[in-house]
Amino acid sequence: MDSNHFLDLHHFSSDDLRAIIEDAKKIKSGAYLPNVQGSASHKPVLIMIFDKPSTRTRVSFDIAMRQIGGETLVLNSADMQLGRGETIADTAQVLSRYGDVIMLRTTDHQALQELAENAKIPVINGLTDKSHPCQILADILTFEEKCGPIANKTLAWIGDGNNVAASWMHAAARFGFRLNISCPETLSPAQELWDWAKNENANVHFVPQPDMAVQDADCVITDVWVSMGQSDAEQRCNLLRPFQVDGALMTKAKPDAIFMHCLPAHRGDEATAEVIDGPQSVVFDEAENRLHVQKAILNWCLCH
Ligand code: CP
Ligand code: NVA
Repeated sequence: MDSNHFLDLHHFSSDDLRAIIEDAKKIKSGAYLPNVQGSASHKPVLIMIFDKPSTRTRVSFDIAMRQIGGETLVLNSADMQLGRGETIADTAQVLSRYGDVIMLRTTDHQALQELAENAKIPVINGLTDKSHPCQILADILTFEEKCGPIANKTLAWIGDGNNVAASWMHAAARFGFRLNISCPETLSPAQELWDWAKNENANVHFVPQPDMAVQDADCVITDVWVSMGQSDAEQRCNLLRPFQVDGALMTKAKPDAIFMHCLPAHRGDEATAEVIDGPQSVVFDEAENRLHVQKAILNWCLCH
């Protein structure tokens, strides 16, 4: 298995993740731009495979790769032989003969693992049903730009205990911040994640009442109530209604707390328009930072 995969934050040491964030800061400031072509005769190619929709991940990876001296190819899995039953293992072997790095967005985390196990080139997790690590690195960059070093700060996750929440749990352990998770018990992150967090001595807590969870928080985070691929929309929305982030909830966090959402957002569901479009919101900075962080991730995968 290629050792330069970017699959999940908990596979990395704190130092490696910090190095990627610091690299992204330098790239964003214009201090330097990686050049992934190096002395190679061809521009490295990023092959992106999507079996779910995407705006930010797709466009930021595409532009990031071009700006650091590479090329890109975007594929929908339904248009590939994968959609007709070719195995992921065979697909991984074939793509490894053509490209230099693969990014996969998939409904099935197991598919990502299989791809990584069989690819001879680095594989990047562009979101699965279980995690979204690239997003969280962009969010940590955003947090630190607004609030300073994230270590020992308090962040509150309000809403569905989903794939994005899972990567925040991994990040809490690696970056040393407190994470309060407030969600209905039935939508809590998987038990194995709580067990992992406990084992890592991570400062992650289940705080069922949203107003308690945001107390002393430097940042309030939420995400959609219905993630891609989920079908039980009505039931989920009913369960999550008490976890909406509105102006009243934001007043219970620190006065200078920021509001984060990875987008796309549904105003009036997980957060009100006054919060998403309000002065504490940094949602478009998060979106921009995807671009800078993707360059640092690609640089790590290709040049590490
Ligand atoms: N936040 C995020 O991953 O957005 P996309 O689904 O548009 O890629
Ligand atoms: N939890 C959301 C994140 C979208 C970027 C989803 O998986 O649909």
